[in-house]
Order: sequence, then structure tokens, then C-alpha cells
Amino acid sequence: MGSCAIVVLIFAVLLQNAWCDVSPTPIVMWHGMGDSCCFPFSLGAIKDKLIDSIPGLYVHSLQIGDNIIEDVENGYLMHPDKQIKLACELIQNDTQLANGYNAIGFSQGGQFLRGLVQRCPNPPMKNLISVGGQHQGVYGLPNCATVAATVCDYIRKLLNYAAYEEWVQNGLVQATYWHDPLNPEEYKNGSTFLADINNEREISQDYVKNLQSLEHFVLIKFDDDTVVQPVETEWFGFYKPGQSVETQSLEESDLYKNDLLGLKGMNESGKLKFLSTPGNHLKFQWDWFAENVLEPYLK
Ligand SMILES: *[C@@H]1O[C@H](CO)[C@@H](O)[C@H](O)[C@H]1NC(C)=O
Ligand SMILES: *[C@@H]1O[C@H](CO)[C@@H](O)[C@H](O)[C@H]1NC(C)=O
Ligand SMILES: *[C@@H]1O[C@H](CO)[C@@H](O)[C@H](O)[C@H]1NC(C)=O
Repeated sequence: MGSCAIVVLIFAVLLQNAWCDVSPTPIVMWHGMGDSCCFPFSLGAIKDKLIDSIPGLYVHSLQIGDNIIEDVENGYLMHPDKQIKLACELIQNDTQLANGYNAIGFSQGGQFLRGLVQRCPNPPMKNLISVGGQHQGVYGLPNCATVAATVCDYIRKLLNYAAYEEWVQNGLVQATYWHDPLNPEEYKNGSTFLADINNEREISQDYVKNLQSLEHFVLIKFDDDTVVQPVETEWFGFYKPGQSVETQSLEESDLYKNDLLGLKGMNESGKLKFLSTPGNHLKFQWDWFAENVLEPYLK
């Protein structure tokens, strides 16, 4: 190879690095229950706004299934373990994400993305934004009729009577993060997703290590949320064990006191951020999001 060719090669490498430095970190989104990757009135619109706000941004909104209908159905029917495996593959297959990405999870997509970062460390997730995610699960589905009345009623009945039965855990996504505070032992033994990612069954040091690798973990809570019960779960709080009236914060929970997930250290090093916004579930104002989330964590 002549010296000129070498110079050209070095120049090409430098140019490529310069490109990589200026192109914004891509964003992966994961939708909530009853939603899909791409509805124009929902995540489709958010994707457009993100791209408007960050020139050159690449957004991958996860579609779980072969089409949008399957994507919606799988939000109820495909076990989160399987969904996360699939999401991991989709992300690893997407060459535009090879250098890492930021992630925004909406509602249950918030806890699924946390499962993803804990189980699928490559390529690296940099910042995780949980928009109304239920990190300590839910106990009740008030107002879920706003999603789809008949489906909602069916789910509610099933969860109240048999959430921890194996067939319900395998067949209904929402059962896997159903957290019955009256029966904490049944929850621990029976919850096949949440109790696992919260290290409540056995401690996975990989989960701790992978979660710590985030630059920031931003938890957004909706002050007027009437869909998620209790709303404290959006900040890792929950009902005090043994009853379902009084709630406790993350700091008061066993998860924190026994430091099962390493959240204490993450908070001390400024990685854990607690944000709240007025409005009902997922009803944030774009200006608020742009100022408090996009500017500090996604740009
Ligand atoms: C990822 O890519 C591999 C190899 O091309 C392919 O076999 C697999 O189906 C892809 N996975 C998904 C979820 O698209
Ligand atoms: C724990 O869960 C398993 C599997 O679902 C079930 O067979 C067993 O009865 C449960 N044990 C208790 C003590 O709830
Ligand atoms: C997180 O850290 C802040 C400031 O260091 C502290 O005030 C707060 O109580 C901590 N919260 C948790 C949940 O650890």
C-alpha cells in the first residue's frame, strides 16, 4: 500500500470518528399496555417530536410481533421474559444501535426496559427514562377501562382471583407484575417477572452490575395518575406489606434497605433521578418533557 493510500485511510478513520461523535445517541422506545410501537396518535407522534427536537436522531420503536396487531396483543399475552429476549435480539440486530442507545419506556414498557438493561447489556443502554413505569408492580387496575373496557374487566377478575397461578402467569402479562401486598410470600414465589428483576427471589449480581452501568435512570411519576395503583410504584414505592392503604417510599422498602438492586449507590452517585409532572397517566406536556428529560438526558 502506498503512503498516499495510508493517509487516505487514516483520514477516513478520523472522519468516521468525527461523524460518530456528532451523531446523536439513538433512542429505543417501548410502548405500554394496549398500545403499539407505531400508532400515529401515540408513539408515532412522540417519535416525530423527538426527531424534530434532535436533528439526525435515529429512533427504534420496538414492535413485539410481526405486525402492529400482534404487537398490541403481545402486550397482554406474551410473557415479559420472551418479550425481553425478542427486544434484545431486535436491538442487537439493528446496526444503528451498535454503539449504544438511550431508552424510553412507557408504562409497562418502563419495567420491561429495566428488565432489558439488566438482562441484555450489549449494546449498552446509556440513559433509561421510565415514563409512568411500575417498578414495584401494581395492585389493582383502576380506570383501566380507558384502555379497553372488556379486556380490562376480564384482566381485573383474573388478577384478583388467580394472579399467581402458573397458567395465569404464563398467559397474562399483567399478572407477572401483580404485587399483592396482603400476601408478600405468594408474590415472591409466584411473580415470574417482577420478583425476578427486583432480585426478590435470588440476587443476580449481573442484574445489579448491568443496572449500574446506566448513566442515568430517570423515573417519571404522574401526580394525577388514576390508572396505576399505587402511583408510588412509578418511583419504586409501594404499599407497606400486609395492607393496601398506606404506602411507603423506596427508601422505606426492603428493596432499598437490603439494597437488592444497588439503587442506593446509584442514587448516591447521582444516577437515579425522580421527576414528577402534573397530569394523568402518560399525559405529559411536551414542553415539560423537552426541558426536564430531553435536554438533560437525551441530547
Ligand atoms: C436477528 O438476526 C438474525 C440473523 O440475521 C435472524 O435470524 C433473527 O431472526 C433476527 N431476530 C429478530 C428478532 O429479528
Ligand atoms: C410456589 O410456586 C409454585 C409454582 O407456581 C407452586 O407450585 C407452589 O405451590 C408455590 N408455593 C407456595 C408456598 O406458594
Ligand atoms: C437520594 O439522594 C438524595 C440526595 O443525595 C437524598 O435526599 C434522597 O433521600 C435519596 N433518595 C433515595 C431514595 O435514596
